[in-house]
Amino acid sequence: MKDIQTRADVDQMIYTFYEKVMVDPEIGFFFTEIVQLDLEHHLPKIADFWETTLFHQAKYKGNPITPHIAIHEKSPLTQAHFDRWVKVFCQTIDDLFSGGIAEMAKQRAQSIATVMLIKIKTV
Ligand code: HEM
Repeated sequence: MKDIQTRADVDQMIYTFYEKVMVDPEIGFFFTEIVQLDLEHHLPKIADFWETTLFHQAKYKGNPITPHIAIHEKSPLTQAHFDRWVKVFCQTIDDLFSGGIAEMAKQRAQSIATVMLIKIKTV
């Protein structure tokens, strides 16, 4: 299995993750009911975020915390929800990639999720 190396790899990772997470019995409803996502607009933005995070490309300009605070106000986001998000994300990576960047992506997901939940709870 190859490592995450290109934008096409990041796109594959994100599209596969969303295929799983949007039908997930524990957290799918956030993506389909709490927020009705326009995927054509949303997925490239999420891929920009990961390209920026993994390859230091200055693509994503935004604040990833703000939309999650808005979601939390509509339907509380819990530790269990974040644990599930990280689990599905890491499983997606393990199904598709292996290597140093793949490991870094999983670590970053976990650490961003931890910080995000703390920030959401302290607003
Ligand atoms: C249970 C956990 C999570 C849920 C249910 C969730 C759900 C969502 C939803 C529904 C949106 C779209 C919001 C909107 O457009 O109004 C969104 C945006 C986003 N999420 Fe999450 N998310 C979770 C955790 C995470 C984590 C851990 C990360 C990063 C590692 C992340 C990264 C992002 C980014 C970058 C955006 C786009 C922000 C922007 O619009 O600039 N999310 N999330």
